[in-house]
Amino acid sequence: MQSFFQTFFPSFFVPPADELISIKINVGKLIRLDILLSMNVRSAKITDVKTIHALINSYAEEDKMLFRSMADIYENLQSFVVVELNGGVVGCCALQVIWSDLAEVKSLAVDGESMKKGVGTALVAAAVEKSAELGVAKVFALTLYPEFFKKLGFETVERDKLPMKVWSDCARCSKQRKCDETAVIKKLKTES
Ligand SMILES: CC(C)(COP(=O)(O)OP(=O)(O)OC[C@H]1O[C@@H](n2cnc3c(N)ncnc32)[C@H](O)[C@@H]1OP(=O)(O)O)[C@@H](O)C(=O)NCCC(=O)NCCS
Repeated sequence: MQSFFQTFFPSFFVPPADELISIKINVGKLIRLDILLSMNVRSAKITDVKTIHALINSYAEEDKMLFRSMADIYENLQSFVVVELNGGVVGCCALQVIWSDLAEVKSLAVDGESMKKGVGTALVAAAVEKSAELGVAKVFALTLYPEFFKKLGFETVERDKLPMKVWSDCARCSKQRKCDETAVIKKLKTES
């Protein structure tokens, strides 16, 4: 039996998966429409805390990010956004306001099986949007993956250009003076 499209649009065809339509989101990056539609980007809830904790600390064990305790995540839950894919939480990210003109994207983590689908991009985009809504003009991150952030419109910045308050987390980092992270920053057009 012919489908609706074959009947009314005989030349209509479904392109191969890697050519499916992509949509440009607020950080200037394309995400495939089919994946975007199956993603739910939302504020974190109490029921997400265990998953967020497991995600962050699995990468902390590999020295890729800082450990966060369950208590710390509960206390800062309002700062977290998560992405659900096919009904399960597969990524998280937090936005922490540092000062009147500066916020930090931190605790960004995507489950191994869901990487390279745009989940990290969607999380950073949500944090950037939240920052703009709050009226905070610049967002920065300290990262092992500056190239990932550069694709989202961030640029590298000399670490000592950031205020001292930024380094409060360093006190609880095992790397201390051997820090291998790069500072990246994005200037936003904030709502007045
Ligand atoms: C870094 C991370 C968040 C990226 O998430 P992701 O969902 O895989 O990223 P996306 O699918 O949105 O990728 C967007 C783009 O960045 C690129 N990218 C993703 N991870 C990258 C990395 N580690 N290094 C360089 N580029 C990367 C992708 O290839 C993609 O580019 P393309 O569209 O041109 O192919 C994820 O790899 C992660 O959780 N890593 C481990 C935890 C961690 O280190 N967190 C700290 C990050 S500051």
